[in-house]
Amino acid sequence: MINPKLSETLPTNFGSIRKAIKDMEYGGYLIPKNWQIFWVTGMTQMDDTISPEPSNFDPNRFENPGSLPPYCFVPFGAGPRVCPGYEFARIETLVSIHYLVTRFTWKLLCSDNSFSRDPMSVPAKGLPVQISPRKLI
Ligand code: HEM
Repeated sequence: MINPKLSETLPTNFGSIRKAIKDMEYGGYLIPKNWQIFWVTGMTQMDDTISPEPSNFDPNRFENPGSLPPYCFVPFGAGPRVCPGYEFARIETLVSIHYLVTRFTWKLLCSDNSFSRDPMSVPAKGLPVQISPRKLI
Protein backbone atom coordinates (compact mmCIF):
# COMPACT_ATOMS: atom_id res chain seq x y z
CA MET A 1 0.00 0.00 0.00
CA ILE A 2 1.33 3.46 -0.79
CA ASN A 3 0.47 6.88 0.49
CA PRO A 4 -2.80 7.95 -1.27
CA LYS A 5 -1.54 11.52 -1.57
CA LEU A 6 1.59 10.27 -3.34
CA SER A 7 -0.36 7.94 -5.63
CA GLU A 8 -2.40 10.87 -6.95
CA THR A 9 0.77 12.28 -8.42
CA LEU A 10 2.27 9.08 -9.86
CA PRO A 11 1.82 8.42 -13.57
CA THR A 12 -0.60 5.62 -14.45
CA ASN A 13 2.04 4.08 -16.68
CA PHE A 14 4.79 2.20 -14.83
CA GLY A 15 7.45 2.58 -17.51
CA SER A 16 8.63 1.17 -20.79
CA ILE A 17 11.47 -0.90 -22.24
CA ARG A 18 14.34 0.16 -24.47
CA LYS A 19 17.23 -1.87 -25.89
CA ALA A 20 20.80 -0.54 -25.83
CA ILE A 21 22.03 -0.50 -29.44
CA LYS A 22 25.63 -0.02 -28.27
CA ASP A 23 27.63 -0.11 -25.02
CA MET A 24 26.75 3.01 -23.06
CA GLU A 25 27.42 4.58 -19.71
CA TYR A 26 24.67 6.18 -17.65
CA GLY A 27 24.94 7.50 -14.11
CA GLY A 28 28.29 5.75 -13.66
CA TYR A 29 26.94 2.34 -14.79
CA LEU A 30 28.00 0.53 -17.96
CA ILE A 31 25.01 -0.75 -19.92
CA PRO A 32 26.24 -3.35 -22.44
CA LYS A 33 24.97 -3.50 -26.01
CA ASN A 34 21.72 -5.49 -26.43
CA TRP A 35 20.74 -5.20 -22.77
CA GLN A 36 17.14 -4.24 -22.17
CA ILE A 37 16.55 -1.20 -20.03
CA PHE A 38 13.33 -0.59 -18.13
CA TRP A 39 12.84 3.10 -17.51
CA VAL A 40 10.36 3.99 -14.78
CA THR A 41 8.09 7.01 -15.22
CA GLY A 42 7.80 7.65 -11.47
CA MET A 43 11.56 8.18 -11.15
CA THR A 44 11.29 11.14 -13.54
CA GLN A 45 7.95 12.44 -12.39
CA MET A 46 8.86 12.32 -8.68
CA ASP A 47 12.27 13.98 -9.16
CA ASP A 48 12.09 17.28 -7.28
CA THR A 49 14.85 18.80 -9.39
CA ILE A 50 12.39 18.53 -12.30
CA SER A 51 9.01 19.08 -10.59
CA PRO A 52 9.13 21.10 -7.36
CA GLU A 53 7.27 19.39 -4.50
CA PRO A 54 6.35 16.39 -6.65
CA SER A 55 4.12 14.82 -3.94
CA ASN A 56 1.73 17.78 -4.01
CA PHE A 57 -1.42 17.18 -6.04
CA ASP A 58 -1.05 19.96 -8.59
CA PRO A 59 -2.50 19.09 -12.02
CA ASN A 60 -1.63 22.61 -13.21
CA ARG A 61 2.03 21.59 -13.35
CA PHE A 62 1.18 19.53 -16.45
CA GLU A 63 -0.81 22.27 -18.16
CA ASN A 64 2.15 23.24 -20.26
CA PRO A 65 4.34 20.14 -20.72
CA GLY A 66 6.64 22.28 -22.89
CA SER A 67 7.78 24.12 -19.75
CA LEU A 68 9.45 20.93 -18.44
CA PRO A 69 12.92 19.90 -19.65
CA PRO A 70 12.87 17.51 -22.66
CA TYR A 71 11.89 13.89 -21.85
CA CYS A 72 10.50 14.85 -18.44
CA PHE A 73 6.74 14.69 -19.20
CA VAL A 74 6.55 10.93 -19.60
CA PRO A 75 3.08 9.47 -18.96
CA PHE A 76 2.91 8.74 -22.68
CA GLY A 77 6.58 7.81 -23.05
CA ALA A 78 9.00 9.88 -25.09
CA GLY A 79 11.16 9.84 -28.17
CA PRO A 80 10.54 8.02 -31.46
CA ARG A 81 8.26 5.43 -29.78
CA VAL A 82 6.14 7.96 -27.89
CA CYS A 83 2.47 6.97 -27.66
CA PRO A 84 0.80 7.94 -30.96
CA GLY A 85 -2.56 8.17 -29.14
CA TYR A 86 -1.15 10.89 -26.85
CA GLU A 87 -3.30 13.89 -27.94
CA PHE A 88 -6.36 11.73 -28.60
CA ALA A 89 -6.13 10.20 -25.11
CA ARG A 90 -5.73 13.63 -23.48
CA ILE A 91 -8.83 15.03 -25.23
CA GLU A 92 -10.83 11.84 -24.61
CA THR A 93 -9.97 11.95 -20.89
CA LEU A 94 -10.80 15.67 -20.66
CA VAL A 95 -14.20 15.23 -22.35
CA SER A 96 -15.08 12.15 -20.25
CA ILE A 97 -14.15 13.83 -16.97
CA HIS A 98 -16.01 17.01 -18.01
CA TYR A 99 -19.27 15.10 -18.56
CA LEU A 100 -18.84 12.85 -15.53
CA VAL A 101 -18.35 15.88 -13.28
CA THR A 102 -20.90 18.28 -14.82
CA ARG A 103 -23.71 15.77 -15.52
CA PHE A 104 -23.50 13.47 -12.50
CA THR A 105 -23.13 13.60 -8.74
CA TRP A 106 -20.73 11.18 -7.09
CA LYS A 107 -20.90 9.50 -3.71
CA LEU A 108 -17.96 7.47 -2.41
CA LEU A 109 -19.23 4.15 -1.02
CA CYS A 110 -16.19 3.15 1.03
CA SER A 111 -14.04 5.04 3.50
CA ASP A 112 -10.76 3.49 2.30
CA ASN A 113 -9.66 5.45 -0.77
CA SER A 114 -6.01 4.38 -0.60
CA PHE A 115 -4.10 3.08 -3.63
CA SER A 116 -1.69 0.20 -4.16
CA ARG A 117 0.71 -0.72 -6.99
CA ASP A 118 -0.07 -3.79 -9.07
CA PRO A 119 2.30 -2.64 -10.73
CA MET A 120 0.01 0.16 -11.99
CA SER A 121 -1.65 2.29 -9.32
CA VAL A 122 -5.09 0.85 -8.50
CA PRO A 123 -7.61 1.71 -5.77
CA ALA A 124 -6.95 -0.76 -2.94
CA LYS A 125 -10.68 -1.42 -2.36
CA GLY A 126 -11.89 -0.84 -5.91
CA LEU A 127 -13.16 2.66 -5.04
CA PRO A 128 -16.91 1.95 -5.41
CA VAL A 129 -18.97 5.09 -6.11
CA GLN A 130 -22.65 5.72 -6.62
CA ILE A 131 -23.26 7.95 -9.62
CA SER A 132 -26.58 9.76 -10.13
CA PRO A 133 -27.61 12.09 -12.95
CA ARG A 134 -27.69 15.77 -11.99
CA LYS A 135 -30.88 17.74 -12.58
CA LEU A 136 -29.88 20.12 -15.38
CA ILE A 137 -31.36 23.61 -15.10
C1 HEM B 1 -4.37 7.58 -21.11
C2 HEM B 1 -4.17 6.90 -22.22
C3 HEM B 1 -2.82 6.40 -22.71
C4 HEM B 1 -1.62 6.31 -22.06
C5 HEM B 1 -1.28 6.73 -20.62
C6 HEM B 1 -0.68 5.73 -23.00
C7 HEM B 1 0.66 5.49 -22.71
C8 HEM B 1 1.54 4.91 -23.60
C9 HEM B 1 2.95 4.67 -23.32
C10 HEM B 1 3.66 5.04 -22.02
C11 HEM B 1 3.49 4.08 -24.39
C12 HEM B 1 4.96 3.63 -24.56
C13 HEM B 1 5.74 4.81 -25.14
C14 HEM B 1 7.23 4.62 -25.09
O1 HEM B 1 7.73 3.49 -24.97
O2 HEM B 1 7.97 5.66 -25.18
C15 HEM B 1 2.43 3.92 -25.37
C16 HEM B 1 2.60 3.35 -26.61
C17 HEM B 1 1.60 3.23 -27.54
N1 HEM B 1 0.31 3.72 -27.45
FE1 HEM B 1 -0.48 4.65 -25.87
N2 HEM B 1 -1.31 5.49 -24.19
C18 HEM B 1 -2.63 5.89 -24.06
C19 HEM B 1 -3.60 5.85 -25.04
C20 HEM B 1 -3.42 5.39 -26.31
C21 HEM B 1 -4.41 5.46 -27.38
C22 HEM B 1 -5.80 6.08 -27.22
C23 HEM B 1 -3.86 4.86 -28.47
C24 HEM B 1 -4.43 4.65 -29.84
C25 HEM B 1 -5.55 5.25 -30.28
C26 HEM B 1 -2.53 4.42 -28.10
C27 HEM B 1 -1.67 3.75 -28.93
C28 HEM B 1 -0.36 3.41 -28.61
C29 HEM B 1 0.53 2.66 -29.50
C30 HEM B 1 0.19 2.11 -30.89
C31 HEM B 1 1.77 2.56 -28.83
C32 HEM B 1 3.05 1.87 -29.33
C33 HEM B 1 3.93 2.91 -30.04
C34 HEM B 1 5.27 2.33 -30.51
O3 HEM B 1 5.76 1.38 -29.89
O4 HEM B 1 5.83 2.88 -31.48
N3 HEM B 1 -2.29 4.77 -26.80
N4 HEM B 1 1.27 4.45 -24.87
